[in-house]
Formats: sequence, C-alpha cells, structure tokens
Amino acid sequence: ITTQVAVVGGGPSGLTMAYLLRQAGIDVEVVENRSRPYTVDRVRAGVLEQSAVELLTKAGLGERLHTEGQKHDGIYLQFDGEKHRVPFADLINRSVWVYGQQEVMKDLLVAHDKQGFSAHYECDNVALHNLLTDAPSVTYTQNGQDVRITARFIIGADGFHGISRPSIPESEITHHERVYPFGWLGILADVEPSTDELIYAIHDDGFAMHSMRSNTVSRLYLQVDPEDDIANWSDERIWEALQTRLGHPGFTLKEGPITEKSITPMRSWVSSPMRYGNLFLVGDSAHIVPPTGAKGLNSAFGDIAVLTPSLLDFFTTGNEKGIDAYSKDSLDRIWRTQNFSMYMTNMLHRFYSDNPAQDDFDYRSQLGQLRTVVNSRHGMAFLAENYTGIVW
Ligand code: FAD
Ligand code: DHB
Repeated sequence: ITTQVAVVGGGPSGLTMAYLLRQAGIDVEVVENRSRPYTVDRVRAGVLEQSAVELLTKAGLGERLHTEGQKHDGIYLQFDGEKHRVPFADLINRSVWVYGQQEVMKDLLVAHDKQGFSAHYECDNVALHNLLTDAPSVTYTQNGQDVRITARFIIGADGFHGISRPSIPESEITHHERVYPFGWLGILADVEPSTDELIYAIHDDGFAMHSMRSNTVSRLYLQVDPEDDIANWSDERIWEALQTRLGHPGFTLKEGPITEKSITPMRSWVSSPMRYGNLFLVGDSAHIVPPTGAKGLNSAFGDIAVLTPSLLDFFTTGNEKGIDAYSKDSLDRIWRTQNFSMYMTNMLHRFYSDNPAQDDFDYRSQLGQLRTVVNSRHGMAFLAENYTGIVW
C-alpha cells in the first residue's frame, strides 16, 4: 500500500490526526494492533480543555460533545475540612467539558465511517523502517498476511507502550522521567454524581477525587499504593475510603454499583525530540503526565493542533517550516503542562515520608499552598488558566 501519511495507533491521537488530514484531502492509513471495540471500551480521560473542545468543534466532531457533554465553569478544592470553589469562568472566562475519552472515540469512529474509512485493526508485529528517507514504511501481519505501507510521513500515535518511540535509536532521543510513590484506584459507578463540579480533595488518608461521566454515572478516584492489588479493594472498602476522604459536613456521597475498577501507577515522562527523520511522535507515545491535572488527552490534542496544519502546509506548498518547528514548539508547551501536572500532583497527594517530622512538615506546607491558592484571586487564576488549558 502506498499513501501520504501512515498513522500507527488508532487511539484518540491517531484517529483525530487521520480524520483531520483526510478532511483536507490527504491519503492516510491507520494501523492498530488491537481490535476496534478494545480501543473504545477502555475507560480513561474524562475532562476536555476549552482548546480541545474548540479543535473538535471546528473539525465537525462537536455535535454530541455539545449536547451530551457537560460544560463546567469551575472545580472544588477540598482540604483540612474546608471546600473552596475555583470559578474558572468568573476568573478568566474559560471552561472545561466533562466528556469521556470513550465518547470522543465513538464520535471519531462514526466520523471515520462517514469518510468511508477504517483503520487496519488487529495488526501484529508492527514495525517501522527507513525513517530517515522520504519513503518510510510500516510493516505488519494481519490475518497471516504480511503488509507494507509506504508513506511520506509516519505518525507515531501508538501510546506509551507502542513501538514508534522505541524505533528511534537511543542515541537520538532523550527520556525524562519522574515516578510517583502512589497510584490511582479509579472506579465507575452507576450512581448520580454527588456534586455539580469535580472535587479534588486531600485528606490525612490521601487524595480522593469525584468526577462524573453523566447524570447517572460517577467516576471516582483514590490515592493508593501503586503496587497494591485491586483484589484487595472490595467495593465496600472503596466506598468506605471515599466516604472518609470526601466527607465533610453537609455533604452526602451517594453510593451505587461499581461497574469498573482498576489501579493505574503515576508517572511523568517526556521524550525529546518528538521527531526522528520523517517520524513524528504525537500524544502518549512522546509524553505522559500524572492524571491530577486532567492533561493526558488534552496534551495530545495540543500536538495535533500544531502538527496537522504543518503537514498540510508541507503537502500544499512544500513549506517545511512548520514541520521543522513541531518538536520544539510542542515540547515548550508540553513542559508547561508537565509542570502544572506535577504542581497539582504534589499539592494534592500525601507523600508519607518515613520520617514523621518531615511528613508532618510536608503535609502542612501543602495545606499552606492550597490556602495560598484559594485566598488569592491570582492564585486561583493561575490554576484556572492552566486547568482550562493553554490557548494554542
Ligand atoms: P492511546 O490512547 O494509548 O492510544 C494508542 C493506540 O495505539 C492504542 O489504541 C493502542 O492499542 C495502539 N497501539 C499500541 N501499540 C501499538 C503497536 N505496536 N502498533 C499499532 N498500534 C499500537 N488522561 C486523563 O486526562 N484523565 C484520565 O483519567 C486518564 N486516565 C488514564 C488511565 C489509564 C489506564 C491510561 C493508560 C491513561 C489515562 N489517561 C488519562 C491518559 C489518556 O487516556 C491518554 O493521554 C490518551 O489516551 C492518549 O491518547 P493516545 O492516542 O496518544 O494514546
Ligand atoms: C478525570 C480524570 C482526571 O485525571 C482528572 O484530573 C479529572 C477527571 C475523569 O476521569 O473524569
């Protein structure tokens, strides 16, 4: 197969890039190693920044997002028995949308179907070749057949565990990593949310968060040991911990059947540069963040917003300025996002030092930091600007 752009990975990054490029008349093939249902059924991100919403809306992908998604004009920060609202819209006139990654994926697949296009699913042994030439290729086996796709460019949108990043020689790429001493236990529950806006809470026992997917489905998270086994967490134990950490006078956390639960470790990671020859890395393949700032999926959309017009410029005029600037421009933005995700994570989690004096000091200092934020219009505006997202 010969095409203009070969995309590796049929997650949100890959499908959005492919859709936007095809919309502009570029030939694109997408190679995905899992099945189509698998790529949709994974429960992941829940919050879209305003810029991501604008990108999807402009692309014609916003119809259901605007009818079924919920626009949120603020979040709550809860600590030391107090609950404070950070009013994004009042402070900076920007908002976020609660709309699950699974819904974004469904919209993308419908849009691809309308374009008469499908990714190649269940491809094994995906490998990249000739990345430093103008005819790089992707090979894979599907139903026992060996296939090669030759393109002008390859987009590595195959997530953190994909093969695109490892296809770059180690001497040509640097990895920056920070691992956190905790993970998030996340649940989906069939129960009406107990809050109108997201609650980020730090409690003596650790972080907890209340998010949602709809008026009938709640999404909640608990800080846990990253090595902990989900089998140790009965539904009863999960609700008890959530009640303790989110509880405060005048608030009732409604409980309901848990339909999904899992533990995700937390780390920050950036690989640099995000380009090698004619391979461009996009989304989780190049960078991941701890989820506290809700930045994972949104960062991917930031990459796409820069790379898509640059590729289109190259294909229509031969201008390479945009594609040459992609890695540096993206990394400048990604490091801002990394810093914000780390700031939120450090402020809102318990670090549990072995040294009780240090533990006590660190925790009180975090509470001081939270008070600095909620007592200052500038502090809250800083959080609001970064949470609702960098304006691309
Ligand atoms: P992915 O979604 O990982 O998609 C990559 C695609 O490439 C997948 O479909 C994969 O099957 C495919 N692939 C992998 N290897 C190959 C290969 N060798 N060949 C071909 N295809 C391949 N972000 C938030 O903002 N909030 C959250 O609550 C949140 N929760 C998360 C929970 C988990 C368990 C994880 C892993 C991530 C979470 N994230 C969250 C991050 C967010 O989901 C990601 O940032 C987002 O999915 C990135 O999209 P992507 O398309 O770049 O990568
Ligand atoms: C969700 C996940 C996040 O990481 C976050 O910061 C906010 C919301 C969610 O899954 O709804």
